[in-house]
Amino acid sequence: MNKRHLLSAWLAPWLLGFVLVFSLDGPARAQDDQALRIGLLLPLTGPFSATGKQLEAGARLYLAQHGDTVAGRKVQLIVKDDMATPDVAKRLAQELLVTDKVHVLAGFGLTPLAFAVAPMATQTKTPMVVMAAATSSITEASPYIVRSSFTVPQVVLPLADWARQNRIRRVVSLVSDYAPGIDSEKYFKERFTDQGGTVVETLRVPLRNPDFAPFLQKVRDLQPDALFTFVPAGVGAVLIKQFTERGLPQAGIRIIAEGSVTDDDLLNSLGDEALGIVTAHHYSAAHDSPVNRAYVAAFQKAVPGARPNFMAVGAYDGMHVIMEALRKTQGNTSGEALLAAMKGLSFDSPRGPVRIDPETRDVIHNIYIRRVERRKDLGNQLYNMEIATIPNVKDPGKPR
Ligand code: PHB
Repeated sequence: MNKRHLLSAWLAPWLLGFVLVFSLDGPARAQDDQALRIGLLLPLTGPFSATGKQLEAGARLYLAQHGDTVAGRKVQLIVKDDMATPDVAKRLAQELLVTDKVHVLAGFGLTPLAFAVAPMATQTKTPMVVMAAATSSITEASPYIVRSSFTVPQVVLPLADWARQNRIRRVVSLVSDYAPGIDSEKYFKERFTDQGGTVVETLRVPLRNPDFAPFLQKVRDLQPDALFTFVPAGVGAVLIKQFTERGLPQAGIRIIAEGSVTDDDLLNSLGDEALGIVTAHHYSAAHDSPVNRAYVAAFQKAVPGARPNFMAVGAYDGMHVIMEALRKTQGNTSGEALLAAMKGLSFDSPRGPVRIDPETRDVIHNIYIRRVERRKDLGNQLYNMEIATIPNVKDPGKPR
């Protein structure tokens, strides 16, 4: 790098901060009598568009049910398509902050998108509500981040415990090769090994357009009791189809998975190949509570033919966090005031009880062990049926 490049590389973040801070300090503060604006960054096109659609539907359902006014002001959602691309997310976040003068950033369908935008939340002191991404360390990327989704370590530790309690001894791990996959591998392996199990091999597949075939052949050759796996929402269908096609069930190998693998959006399309898969997660559309039954019915009325998955509930609860915070501050949109109002919030969600940890700004909720079953009482469809509950789980990944 020559001197000029070095200087511009050093100056660029400062200039961005300068532009963001000063353009916000000016006109945005003068608009306080106008709408409260929430910028929603979502992957609405590309391979993760199903995630974006679920998130948008969840956020819109919350406003449709609870009204779009708080502290006497209208709430406006400004939705942008980040195409699951960090550079696009960065550019759109800047546009949302500078041009649209949003008071809150929200969405973040994948971990790299959240990491790309976090420095801007810090520079502009703008609350950033992570409704989907699940890598543990995301909340440490900015003091303005609050998470309404879940963390991967939160769900894979209970799964490792369940596996050991159910006489699973040898496991091969297969994860998408990016941050939440690496979190899954690391935390599952540590816990499973602590409990006396063995992870005989750890495999990582590319995040985009994965071909599982060569990896599954390797799993078959290694003959574990089970395959432990994480792939992000929407990708599990290909994995499970190839797992079956390659005859792994007949070879006596079962699947245990982080719950994104059998997400509600795709589960029913899998057919009987998915029966018996055990997962751990924080949300199932079959969660048996009056709050969830009402939520699922309202979602299906709003989006006919769709089933809400954990992404939708992350956005629905994220909107609750934002609206409750605005109610508590009586419409004061300062980042400090909103963060203070969000910390410690607790409420009854379709997933069960939820609390925002005031120390880590991460979500505390129940984790459920679930098994895929075909349910006559639920329209003869496939569902993740809860078989055990681990209450009020904090993210185990945080330094304390
Ligand atoms: C993530 O990128 O953090 C992520 C995305 C989808 C999931 C889980 C984690 O299902």
